[in-house]
Amino acid sequence: MVSEKIPVMTAAEAAAMINDGDIIGFSGFTPAGAAKEIPKAIARKARAEHDAGRPFKIGVVTGASTGDSLDGELARANAVLFRTPYQSDKTLRAQINKGETHFFDMHLSMLPQAARYGFLGKVRFAVIEAAAVTDDGEIVLTTSVGATNTFCHVADQIFIELNDQHPTELKGLHDIYEPLDPPHRREIPLYKTADKIGSPVLKVDPSKIAGIVKTSLPDEVGAFKQTDAVTQKIGENVAAFLAAELKAGRIPEDFLPIQSGVGNIANAVLGALGANPAIPPFEMYSEVIQDSVVGLMRSGDIKFASATSLTLSPAVLQEVYNDLPFFKERIVLRPQEISNHPEVVRRLGIISINTAIEADIWGNINSTHVMGCNLMNGIGGSGDFTRNAYISLFTCPSIAKGGAISTIVPMVAHLDHSEHSVQVIITEQGIADLRGKDPIQRAREIVEKCAHPEYRAQLHTYFDGVKDGHTPQTLQTVFAMHQAFMEKKDMRNVDMTIK
Ligand code: COA
Repeated sequence: MVSEKIPVMTAAEAAAMINDGDIIGFSGFTPAGAAKEIPKAIARKARAEHDAGRPFKIGVVTGASTGDSLDGELARANAVLFRTPYQSDKTLRAQINKGETHFFDMHLSMLPQAARYGFLGKVRFAVIEAAAVTDDGEIVLTTSVGATNTFCHVADQIFIELNDQHPTELKGLHDIYEPLDPPHRREIPLYKTADKIGSPVLKVDPSKIAGIVKTSLPDEVGAFKQTDAVTQKIGENVAAFLAAELKAGRIPEDFLPIQSGVGNIANAVLGALGANPAIPPFEMYSEVIQDSVVGLMRSGDIKFASATSLTLSPAVLQEVYNDLPFFKERIVLRPQEISNHPEVVRRLGIISINTAIEADIWGNINSTHVMGCNLMNGIGGSGDFTRNAYISLFTCPSIAKGGAISTIVPMVAHLDHSEHSVQVIITEQGIADLRGKDPIQRAREIVEKCAHPEYRAQLHTYFDGVKDGHTPQTLQTVFAMHQAFMEKKDMRNVDMTIK
């Protein structure tokens, strides 16, 4: 379905209309559904402008991370003025950590309203991928919704990459609903994971559509690493914890919807949930649908999944497209403002499972910054879900970099999720249940159950001898393990006694 009234143009013609300093809202939540042709053309324009001695950088706003054609190309062309809300690109990350590109890390549920409220500056263009568009501005999106609906509403003009890799039969997979802004906002009328509350198409003012660029580029989703013994054990521990909660009656018999983060650990966790016979078939109310979900839908272990993106490797996406009626009955893609909305997460009773870079013995979590300084990716949706979950879980391996780093530390070097929001920490060593425990009880639980045996004694030394205070933090040694790593690339055998 192609509109006859909207001009078809090349990506270079679209890029020619974009100027230095423009803020652009691009479609894409992970590489799924991300714009590709036009960002590549913008990168070429940036290079040409730089060669001619003229400045050219744009503000890049997306749903979350994107693919190489967007973040990679623009970063390599040195064309990114600022970036929000999340990224996972190697070049861009290096530029951010060198202070060459401004990055602000945002809760993903809040990005769309921040764009509407004008907090991000004026969004000039929306550059979005679509499977179909009609003359009256009805757009069928592709593998993600993200913040695309909001970008189209706030932007002055819209460019559409019409991508024939995606069938027009995707219509019906999406549920586009955008809340009103205060003081007119009402409750979001979503009471079950599968409820549809909006429109199957994104409706935009057709006069804002500046052009259509035809394309055939596939999503740039990478393959997952094979599950190893550590990620496998973490997954099994999560499944065992949830099975025990179910048995104890703290989770209802028909279970609760699962939110699971992105990445290798998250993939292994879902696999382990599916494999545990004590866990009944469940639903997901999450951000991202990864490869493992598709297999678990086929086996009947996952009954339904609500998310904002279908982040599938090419072969698995093809499998879904080959049997679209089956998957359309079991999947809905919503705007990230809804998939991650605190109100809905709290109402539905989501069990949240996210990954930490490090956790401290009090239950605080660092998801974003290595050694407190260097940004990895961003907070993503982990805060949206953790703060509002029925039970909030964090997972990570107990050690990193071959054991030279303990992921369990006296104090996180950067704080993303506080002890008030984090209920359970799980490593391959075991499960620390923090509910109903005071700080010292939590510290004992985390060190005994989650820390690697090589680090337990020094972590005990840190807090065992201290008698004063509700949270007996010792400022003198609180970052001794981090400092040891900075100096000699090893956190092991650090003297944690108070001198
Ligand atoms: N100190 C230094 N480096 C560490 C570390 C620590 N405490 N813990 C992990 N790392 C390194 C690993 O060594 C690895 O490095 P490498 O790429 O050089 O091998 C890298 O961090 C990634 O770790 P890995 O164990 O492979 O985990 P992952 O791919 O599952 O990613 C996060 C973990 C935390 C980076 C990732 O989950 C993330 O960005 N989370 C924040 C956003 C989020 O939660 N989104 C989901 C919400 S729905």
